[in-house]
Amino acid sequence: MKNGGGTADSPVLDVSGLEMHFGGVAALQGVCHQVEGNIIQAVIGPNGAGKTTLFNCISGTLVPSAGRISFFGREIGGLAPHRIAEAGIARTFQHVALFRKMSVLENVMVGRHPRTRFGFFASGLRVPGMRSEEKRIRSKALEYLDLVGLAGSADLEAGTLPLGKQKILEIARALATEPRMVMLDEPAGGLNMKETEALGELIESIRRLGITVMLVEHDMNLIMDISDRILVLNHGRVLASGTPGEIKENSVVIEAYLGCE
Ligand SMILES: Nc1ncnc2c1ncn2[C@@H]1O[C@H](COP(=O)(O)OP(=O)(O)O)[C@@H](O)[C@H]1O
Ligand SMILES: [Mg+2]
Repeated sequence: MKNGGGTADSPVLDVSGLEMHFGGVAALQGVCHQVEGNIIQAVIGPNGAGKTTLFNCISGTLVPSAGRISFFGREIGGLAPHRIAEAGIARTFQHVALFRKMSVLENVMVGRHPRTRFGFFASGLRVPGMRSEEKRIRSKALEYLDLVGLAGSADLEAGTLPLGKQKILEIARALATEPRMVMLDEPAGGLNMKETEALGELIESIRRLGITVMLVEHDMNLIMDISDRILVLNHGRVLASGTPGEIKENSVVIEAYLGCE
């Protein structure tokens, strides 16, 4: 896999003056933030703070109203989602978005798409080299399933998995694009304590692969446990940014957010 790269001097992700307006609603207002390479960067804040909107702007699901987003020095703001995926950003969704009728393995094979010569949906065509390409994709997909602990469920229909496993499968699919950064939107939602612990270990192992992780989560134990840096959003603005220790002690954050937990 590629290295997440980057240092404090040259962040992998540099967001500046980011604005996202929906009609009269300003979901993001002048958001500036830099993410160093190879860290777990949490994004927290109350419901409606703009966390998912931030992810949507970075991954290309939304075209920002204003501002810049640069990834490894390249401006990606407003690019189509597949271009941003090719640049090395993969994500999961707050609400599980799998192909429910396809097998677990096939869902990960689809994730390989940005990195294959033919693309998964060309499989129906008789292109020379297709057969061996497909074999390679299959074995690579199995590797990622193994990494997240789902290899044993490879042939099951994805929609039959319990929610916790579907969320893990989404992570495997994101990893299969061989990203330099993954963005996980509330991966612990609907997971029990044991599953959440395992998720934390998985996220740390992703970081150890050299992949930068951006993580939106409400589970404060998980956030404080595994994050290197925390960005706090409130009403579409940056409220604070720092290490878990700094955020825990930040009186503004406690008042606006942590205090009411
Ligand atoms: N597609 C959309 N159309 C209109 N309003 C939206 C859309 N997406 C988000 N919003 C609004 O933007 C604000 C931020 O939402 P969101 O980013 O989903 O917050 P969070 O993920 O922090 O809970 C909310 O007020 C929400 O209603
Ligand atoms: Mg959200």
